[in-house]
Amino acid sequence: MTEISDIDTVKKEITSFSLDSVDALEAFRLKYLSRKGIISDMLAGIGKADPTERARLGKELNSLKKLATSRFQEAKAELSSQSTYKKSATDDPTLPPVPPQIGSTHPLSQTLEEIKSIFYRLGFTIADGPELEDDFHNFTALNFPPEHPARDMQDTFFIRKDEQNPSRNLVLRTHTSPVQIRLLKEQKPPVRAIMPGRVYRNESITAKSYCLFHQVEGLYVDNNVSLADLKHTLITFAGHLFGKGLKYRIRPSFFPFTEPSLEMDIWWETGNRPGQWMEILGAGMVHPNVLKAVDIDPERYTGFAFGMGVERITMSRYEIDDIRLLYDNDLRFLNQFP
Ligand code: PHE
Repeated sequence: MTEISDIDTVKKEITSFSLDSVDALEAFRLKYLSRKGIISDMLAGIGKADPTERARLGKELNSLKKLATSRFQEAKAELSSQSTYKKSATDDPTLPPVPPQIGSTHPLSQTLEEIKSIFYRLGFTIADGPELEDDFHNFTALNFPPEHPARDMQDTFFIRKDEQNPSRNLVLRTHTSPVQIRLLKEQKPPVRAIMPGRVYRNESITAKSYCLFHQVEGLYVDNNVSLADLKHTLITFAGHLFGKGLKYRIRPSFFPFTEPSLEMDIWWETGNRPGQWMEILGAGMVHPNVLKAVDIDPERYTGFAFGMGVERITMSRYEIDDIRLLYDNDLRFLNQFP
């Protein structure tokens, strides 16, 4: 039989029931709101009550049911808004955890670090200069004649081009050689330094060429610096970077700022392609006109210089056959260089 005092007791229980979890919510529902719950039971018991009491009991039980229902609904809404952990198809605690994303050093930086550390051990210091250069440092002081093709829009990005007065021209540096000039203006011989940096060329973008790339310039000026010193330095360097089994060749070449000039190639085999020679650097004995441009007496001092392409070297070390991969920032590529 249902009595008013029972209803009051249940009312107190319902008000103080702690609904702080999904499990508690379900327990609450089963206990009070399900078909076999207390409130259904009590409604069924009305029939046995004193007929004069039935109307009042019915009213009380209805408001009890409303109370239980609204507590249930409020708690449910509250719990689902709190949960940041949405149920989904991937919500499976038996799956292995997603590994944390850890960055890695870009292959170009890895190569650059190694180049630097080899030259550090050979006694070279490190210098740098601006990427925006004037005509004097990028061309004139380096003995480029006025009509040289590199001074053409086709090859060089001009930031300012003054046809009347070309000495006012500003360019994105086309090589790191202008840093030789800056260094020699600052520091009298002996000078022995490498100068890494980014350079720009107005070239079409293909698997082999990009509008920007990196070079490491080298310069050694002192008394009695010879071509033999240059060859020895380059061969020692390449042996350290590529390993002793390296196949290389040194051929004569031409640069306005060195005389004589040479280029070094290494034998490059990737995957299933036939091997081929790949040029990795240009070099030579510093031209007397370059020394004169920075007030160094070429009768007293000689020097050698070289400039190598960091992209080329990286591509041969890691068997990369498209330079653009180095600039795409595609994680599927970069993750291969932990
Ligand atoms: N600056 C030359 C280039 O960009 C490379 C070089 C540097 C050649 C120093 C000789 C000496 O191709």
